[in-house]
Amino acid sequence: MVPRQAIADVEIDGVLIPKGTTLMIVPQVTHSNPRVWGKDADDLRPERWEHLEGDAATPYAMEAFINGPRVCPYVTHDLLHAIYPKDFAPLPGLS
Ligand code: HEM
Repeated sequence: MVPRQAIADVEIDGVLIPKGTTLMIVPQVTHSNPRVWGKDADDLRPERWEHLEGDAATPYAMEAFINGPRVCPYVTHDLLHAIYPKDFAPLPGLS
């Protein structure tokens, strides 16, 4: 879970969140949301990543590293590793 504080009144999905409220972001809620991933959201189906559509194709469908200015910097390392698996040198101390 990742805590964040609302810096202004905001409405999300019909729910008013007053300024100052602490919110807990739970990535698993997004990752198993059928409105984003479809009826089989809970099924292990890695090939779904080959043809993402709709909300699943947005950066906010995958929240494991969070998003925005405080996104986990390791995600860049992870993506480079996926794109250049042979040539990419891992960060010192990591494999
Ligand atoms: C699968 C592995 C990882 C996951 C799921 C993950 C997830 C996250 C999440 C959710 C945050 C945001 C936390 C918050 O703002 O409260 C974060 C921040 C951060 N992560 Fe990761 N992380 C992973 C691996 C790593 C690794 C290996 C490193 C370092 C080599 C790293 C370095 C950082 C740093 C420095 C931040 C703070 C960024 C900031 O606040 O500006 N993470 N990570």
